[in-house]
Amino acid sequence: MSNKVQKAVIPAAGLGTRFLPVTKSMPKEMLPIIDKPVIHYVVEEAVDSGIEDILLITGRGKRAIEDYFDDAPELRMHLERHGKSQQLDALKEIARFGGIHFVRQREPKGLGDAVLCAEKHCGDDPFAVLLGDDIMKDSTPCTQQLIDIFEKTGSSVIAVQKVPREHLNRYGIVKGKECGENLLLLDDIVEKPRPEAAPSSFGSIGRYVFTPALFSCLKHTTKGAGGEIQLTDAIRLLMKKEDVYAYLYQGKRFDTGDKLGYIETIIDFALEDETMRDSLNAFLKKSVRR
Ligand code: UTP
Repeated sequence: MSNKVQKAVIPAAGLGTRFLPVTKSMPKEMLPIIDKPVIHYVVEEAVDSGIEDILLITGRGKRAIEDYFDDAPELRMHLERHGKSQQLDALKEIARFGGIHFVRQREPKGLGDAVLCAEKHCGDDPFAVLLGDDIMKDSTPCTQQLIDIFEKTGSSVIAVQKVPREHLNRYGIVKGKECGENLLLLDDIVEKPRPEAAPSSFGSIGRYVFTPALFSCLKHTTKGAGGEIQLTDAIRLLMKKEDVYAYLYQGKRFDTGDKLGYIETIIDFALEDETMRDSLNAFLKKSVRR
């Protein structure tokens, strides 16, 4: 096994039922955060963490994701002919995400099953996993922070954040011992527990670095919560074989797969854009008074 993380797996094959009916004909990962789709920011995080080899797990009805990362020669030539340099730069930004591969999950049988689709691609190498509907914002990319821990420990590491009690039943909740700044050595993880059964208030937030030993654990994982192959259950098996750490990520995290989370993401991004900030602030102030 190499000790460098050079591969990333981005599962984006889920049905996105919380966003029906729009997700009937469009992937939730393509929902726009103003003018870029959610998946753009996820791929960008992997690339900004030094990863050049990215595998996207897609499925039926997810073609728009492949098209987005492909070249668009007619559009490019049209923009060149009309001297639209700003728009051309926007296309070039996508082109810098070279090296994207795609594989299809035949059926959305759960996140664990989606990650298992990456086994052949990753082989005996460590790899990062970035969920296709979570956006992270920090001065150092979240995945880069996890890679730094992997390179020190040689062990798998998952990002966690403190979760409000009423949301504990939406996350994989970890249990472990503090073993450094913002670091826990794990001894358990439970998928979507009832608040009274949760082993802590730290929930897994969609960024991971794994050793390849995860794949054999995924193969031994049977259907769990919701009748799906859960990544959380495979992580619990992995803990029995090797050390697994949780890293308390301090940056911002946006869950765009949730309606409220999606709206919060757009507002946050718009408030950072100086061409919109003042007008949006004024609009928000007016709306809050209603
Ligand atoms: P979610 O549970 O948030 O996605 O999975 P979902 O099932 O599409 O959403 P809802 O609950 O029906 O609205 C987290 C990530 O895992 C991927 C999703 O695409 C998302 O990026 N996923 C989930 C898969 O790739 N395959 C699956 O079978 C399930």
